[in-house]
Amino acid sequence: MHLTKDEEALLESNSSVAKLMEILVALGKIYGAERLIPIHSSHISGISYQNIGDEGLEWLESLNAKVVVKTTVNPAGMDLVKWEAMVDKDFYSKQIRIIKALEKIGAEISLTCTPYYLYDVKFGMHLAWAESSAIIYANSIIGARTNRESGISAIASAVIGKTPYYGLHIKENRAPNVLIKAANFDPSALGYHVGRILKHDQIPIFRFEKTLSKDELKSLGAALAATGNVAIFHVENQTPEWKNFEIPKEKIEIDGFEIKNECEPDLIAIGCPHLSKDELLQVLKLLEKEKKTVKRELWLFTSRYVANKNKEIVEKIESFNAKVFCDTCMVVSPITEKFECVMVNSGKALTYLPKLRGVKVKFGSLKECIKTALN
Ligand code: F3S
Repeated sequence: MHLTKDEEALLESNSSVAKLMEILVALGKIYGAERLIPIHSSHISGISYQNIGDEGLEWLESLNAKVVVKTTVNPAGMDLVKWEAMVDKDFYSKQIRIIKALEKIGAEISLTCTPYYLYDVKFGMHLAWAESSAIIYANSIIGARTNRESGISAIASAVIGKTPYYGLHIKENRAPNVLIKAANFDPSALGYHVGRILKHDQIPIFRFEKTLSKDELKSLGAALAATGNVAIFHVENQTPEWKNFEIPKEKIEIDGFEIKNECEPDLIAIGCPHLSKDELLQVLKLLEKEKKTVKRELWLFTSRYVANKNKEIVEKIESFNAKVFCDTCMVVSPITEKFECVMVNSGKALTYLPKLRGVKVKFGSLKECIKTALN
């Protein structure tokens, strides 16, 4: 890989910067990149103490480096305000140390998997994002360009301000190679199913009978990225790049797909990925329609940014006895382990909750989830 003189000099810098530069060079070599390109922003995942433990915490604290581009971070293991409802003091203090370490390198403590709600991510921008649901959103729905970075390579790119030029940064590699015709589906369930049946490195283009909202595309993408190794999809007449490519010959037809799994939920958890304002409003509308307070635990997860901008909606939702949490989610917080069966409307949560939190999971649409919470 060709390095400029300035880039070569970074390999001789202090040991943190040199190590991070070595990571980018190694990745570039593995994937055949000819050079590094500048990035607009970075998004760091894997920052919950639950997931990275003492080893990850100590590594972050050992970093002697500063980010040089806008850098946001994924959810932590607890709500920073309502943490006592979720974790013990020891967990809290370790999580705060992780946050302080990230602050020290210059990252914004956004604590959300939806960084695209926080600032204007534009078509064609090169990014180095970790967090599969954010990556697939940025590539597919916005038309920005990022590979599936890990937490560590996202930190490396944030500090160096560059990423190796390969994979989805190159237009030709973003072409679809399988057409999926789908009807009568829940977007999250469809993503969950399609991710499982796609072959490695297949990029789908969907043909739907109706237009999906951005939130529905967000759910579809998050599920697709959770069950498959997918970082981009296209939708005919909807996503920004679909017209740039030919429609592939290989075709899969799906008519009505349901996820069947039964357990009696003691928690209904909504907000994977973190809820948008419109999604909060949808929940509120469903609650207001029934005019009843919830009978089971109903927890909603969103970013502090969205919650602060929509305080009235959040208060109204909480008046129905539902709880709105920020900075964290049902998958990265240890609190979910206290429950036996968690009902979700997210194909991503459905995939990870049994694996990471060891709980049973039931899938339903948002309407079904709210109905269950009320009865
Ligand atoms: Fe976000 Fe947590 Fe789901 S980080 S995408 S809400 S698993």
